[in-house]
Amino acid sequence: MYQKMSERKFLKYMQTKIIKVETGHTGIAEAADVIRRGGLAAFPTETVYGLGADALNPQAAKKIYTAKGRPSDNPLIVHIAEWEDLFTVAREVPGEAKRLADAFWPGPLTMVMKKNERIPCETTGGLDTVAVRMPNHPAALSLIRQSGCPIAAPSANTSGRPSPTEAAHVVADLSGKIPVILDGGPVGIGIESTIIDLTEKTPVILRPGYITKEMLSQTLGRKVVIDSAVVAPDSGKIPKAPGMKYRHYAPRADLIVVTGERQKVVSKINELTDKNHADGRRTGVIATDETKHFYRADQIVSIGARADEDAIARHLYRILRDFDRGDTQIIYSESFATPRIGQAIMNRLLKAAGNHEIIVS
Ligand code: TXA
Ligand code: MG
Repeated sequence: MYQKMSERKFLKYMQTKIIKVETGHTGIAEAADVIRRGGLAAFPTETVYGLGADALNPQAAKKIYTAKGRPSDNPLIVHIAEWEDLFTVAREVPGEAKRLADAFWPGPLTMVMKKNERIPCETTGGLDTVAVRMPNHPAALSLIRQSGCPIAAPSANTSGRPSPTEAAHVVADLSGKIPVILDGGPVGIGIESTIIDLTEKTPVILRPGYITKEMLSQTLGRKVVIDSAVVAPDSGKIPKAPGMKYRHYAPRADLIVVTGERQKVVSKINELTDKNHADGRRTGVIATDETKHFYRADQIVSIGARADEDAIARHLYRILRDFDRGDTQIIYSESFATPRIGQAIMNRLLKAAGNHEIIVS
């Protein structure tokens, strides 16, 4: 009996090879070989690390769901390296897709279109549409080209955890479950791509990201809307991107976002810290370079300078993960509704907080 159980355990465990990538390194060829043979390979993109498989192979796509513990109704994004590859995966390529691709590909924009019959339902979570993106990262593009197939890839985290922004995060979540991880160092953007649905009369943003509504509507010369369930997460509406309905990114500690004028936010967080300390609870704060000296919490982390919204986006997931390594029980975070990508940052932060927000006035 004991023998059988340990055998089973042994079969499930897989040695994970971590390969550092510099452009042209032979390690990419090794990962491409794994993908061609129906296996999984994690790789860097400019947004977050992805967990890739041959998008045309239903068995390979299924392995992604198992490794991540992902619900099977949550479709995968298909990554391509050339514009022409879009015709392998989409049944109809709207004219607006070409305009957006010319403006933003390779880059952090995913477009949803009608899928063609070559893309299996396993890849699209049973939907008749497909989400496609051309990533702007040399290792990702080289991996797709060398694999010779479009690559289905969700973020390379365990379902529910923050997306990985460095290879160590992928190792923490998926080591022993996948054969290979390409380590390209920390990513540049740090939050997932903007998703735009082109199958509706008016283009709809299903997930906000680095490419903003204003940039999209300027390129298309017409109105673009944001999925109302994403704008008002408490409205009870169901988001159009299946993945947006799940709790995400949540650290183990309770996370509460405190929004308002800077001085009032600092006072409120200190007041709450004192109350928690009186009850023997350890607290943390996600602050900025400007405010970090004013807090009394046990663990104070600066996300960057308030004016540097790119840095805020780039650091968010690493900070949420780092809190899991300590013994902080309650984390208070400042709000980061910055001018350009603030909507994307706040979407992720409030999701991590289960929409728990205190507004001070
Ligand atoms: O930046 C990114 O997009 C990263 C990197 C690896 O490319 N990928 C990523 O994948 O964030 P994932 O699986 O974590 O998020 C994909 C999101 C989910 O919310 C999913 O529901 C949505 O895209 N999605 C995929 N296909 C869709 C479709 N056909 N219609 C609507 N939503 C779709
Ligand atoms: Mg994800």
